[in-house]
Amino acid sequence: MLGPVILAASRSDRMRRLISAAPVTKQVVDRFIPGETVDGILPIVRQLTDNGLELTMDVVGEDITTPEQAEAARDAYLELIDRLKPLELGGRAEMSVKLSMFGQALPGGHELALANVRPVVEAAAEIGTTVTLDAEDHTTLDSMFAIHEELRKDFPQTGCVIQAYLFRTEEDARRLAAAGSRVRLVKGAYKEPAEVAYQQKHEIDKAYVRILRTLMEGEGYPMIGSHDPRLIAIAQELARTAGRKLDEYEFQMLYGIRGEEHLRLAAEGHRMRVYTAYGTDWYGYFMRRLAEKPANLRFFARSMISR
Ligand code: FDA
Repeated sequence: MLGPVILAASRSDRMRRLISAAPVTKQVVDRFIPGETVDGILPIVRQLTDNGLELTMDVVGEDITTPEQAEAARDAYLELIDRLKPLELGGRAEMSVKLSMFGQALPGGHELALANVRPVVEAAAEIGTTVTLDAEDHTTLDSMFAIHEELRKDFPQTGCVIQAYLFRTEEDARRLAAAGSRVRLVKGAYKEPAEVAYQQKHEIDKAYVRILRTLMEGEGYPMIGSHDPRLIAIAQELARTAGRKLDEYEFQMLYGIRGEEHLRLAAEGHRMRVYTAYGTDWYGYFMRRLAEKPANLRFFARSMISR
């Protein structure tokens, strides 16, 4: 019930202004977004990699309104990659990007986003790592997949995300389950209409399993983006029956959610990648985390009242 309301609020400028200016305890936002600057996030990168975990890093921000902001987003990723270089982590620290932040929704946005993301993908390749294109709302996906295909001509390791709640995704998965592809499967975090997406949790979970089977039986590299214990157990079973070795798929979870499970899976020998977001424009990312688990909202509300 609460989830859709929070997701609607995540797109509202008025709510953005109210909540961003509210005396939110830093602790609440920090749980999901553990840094505002590159200097702030590098100790977290070291801590996670020292614990045997890998990362995919997200400079938070989306829904930008000018080409200059899109260029600033590109430059923020370039700075991050530059600062990661001396750590020599290679593919242990990859990038996740939202094309909306690179200008996709502006006039001429498809070309603009491609032009802005390409140097990031190039710079990532130079330090031995890759970029994954996050999936945003369904209206942006044809453009995202076209940019993904274009980037893969020069950088075949470029990954993309598919969302189990969308009806279109089973077909996308069949197309993407080809040799050399890297595909992250998630349930989906946006408010989508019933014409394009399953609305019930059990329907989304069933679709997730069908799509995961396609990816596991295919020839690409599946990245299982979920914290759901049932789906993680099913993923392990599907990998086993598809004859995949431990390095032929990976688990991915968000920073701040089920941290003990990150360590457990890594200790079992799985590749475990933590999606680690940082930056100051945290509103959209933070609101989606609240919508996924209403208990987070109660914690957030209590922290505001107790100040
Ligand atoms: P589900 O929501 O059923 O949660 C399972 C359990 O995990 C819960 O019972 C709870 O214990 C815990 N949990 C989940 N979310 C929590 C939260 N916010 N706070 C506290 N506990 C929580 N979406 C998208 O549309 N596009 C994208 O590109 C991405 N990218 C992405 C990357 C990675 C690495 C992950 C893990 C997820 C995404 N997502 C995403 C988000 C995804 O679509 C989905 O909203 C969340 O992963 C929550 O779904 P679960 O599969 O975890 O299951």
